Amino acid sequence: MKVIRAVAQLRDIVHTEKKNGQTIGFVPTMGFLHEGHITLAKQARKENDVVIMSIFVNPLQFGPNEDYERYPRDPEHDTELAKSCGVDYLFMPSVDDMYPDEPAVVLTVKKRTNALCGLKREGHFDGVATVVLKLFHMTEPDKAYFGKKDAQQLAVIYGLVDSLNVSVTIVGVDTVREKDGLAKSSRNVYLLPEEREKAPAIYNALSHAREALEAGEINVERLREQAIDYLRDHSGAEVEYVEILSYPELEPVRKVERMIIIAAAVQYKNARLIDNVILTME
Ligand code: PAJ
Repeated sequence: MKVIRAVAQLRDIVHTEKKNGQTIGFVPTMGFLHEGHITLAKQARKENDVVIMSIFVNPLQFGPNEDYERYPRDPEHDTELAKSCGVDYLFMPSVDDMYPDEPAVVLTVKKRTNALCGLKREGHFDGVATVVLKLFHMTEPDKAYFGKKDAQQLAVIYGLVDSLNVSVTIVGVDTVREKDGLAKSSRNVYLLPEEREKAPAIYNALSHAREALEAGEINVERLREQAIDYLRDHSGAEVEYVEILSYPELEPVRKVERMIIIAAAVQYKNARLIDNVILTME
C-alpha cells in the first residue's frame, strides 16, 4: 500500500491506473478507522481492480461549535488497518493540500437537507458535497462506497451525482454494529462508561418502530412518539430527533412508501450519535 499526500501525485497515479484499464473503487473517510470503514474497503476490494481510500477531516463540513479540533485522529493505526484490508493507495492530504486558498466555488445542497441532521447542522452537507466532489475529481472512481449509517449523507451523495452528472456508481453499505447493536462510530470513544452501557437503546428504539411498521402500524406520529419515549427512558441521552420519512427523498410519509427511513439523533455529554434503519415496504 502506498501512502499519498500530494494531490498532484494522486492525479498521476490515477491517470496511470486508468490508462492501464484498471477500475477504481474509492472509499472516502475521515479516519480513526473502525469496522464500518473496513467493511466499505473490503467490499471495494472485491469489486474493483484498484482501491483508493482517503482520510481527511474536512473542516468545511464542521460548524463553528462542532468537534473539528477534537475529532479523533490516529494516522498510524489507520495506515496499518487500511493496509490490512487491501487498500492500494491511502490518500492523506493536509488541509493546505485540499484547500490551498479559500475556495472560489462551493456547492449548496438544495434537497434532502431540510430534515434530520440538516436542520441542526447548517452547511454541513454543503461541506460534505463539496469535498466529496473534489475527491471524486481527484480519484475518478468507477464505484464509491458510503455507509448507510450516515443515511442522509448517502441520500445527498445520490442527489449530487444525479444533479451534476457525475459518472460514478454509488454503493450504499449496510451499517456495521457492535454485538449489542450500537452502530460503530468514531465518536463512540467519547461515551462515558455508563453512557456506553445505555447507548444500544438507540438501535432498540429504531428496531421496535421498524417491527411495528412491518406489522402494519401506519400511524407514523404514534410510532415516532413511542420511540422518543423509549429513548428518554432508556438511552440516558437527550433526544434530538426521531423521524420517519421516505427514503432517499427524506419527505414526510404520506402513503405507504416503497422505502422508509426511521432515524434518530441523541446527544450524550461529549458525543452526538445518529443511527437509522431503512425498510423496503412490500
Ligand atoms: P466518516 O465519518 O469517517 O465515514 C466514512 C464512511 O464510513 C461513510 O460513508 C460512513 O457512512 C461510513 N461508516 C461510518 N460508520 C459506519 C458503520 N458503522 N457501518 C457502515 N459504514 C459506516 O462520512 C464521512 O466520514 C465524511 O462525511 C466523508 C464522506 C468522508 C466526507 O468528508
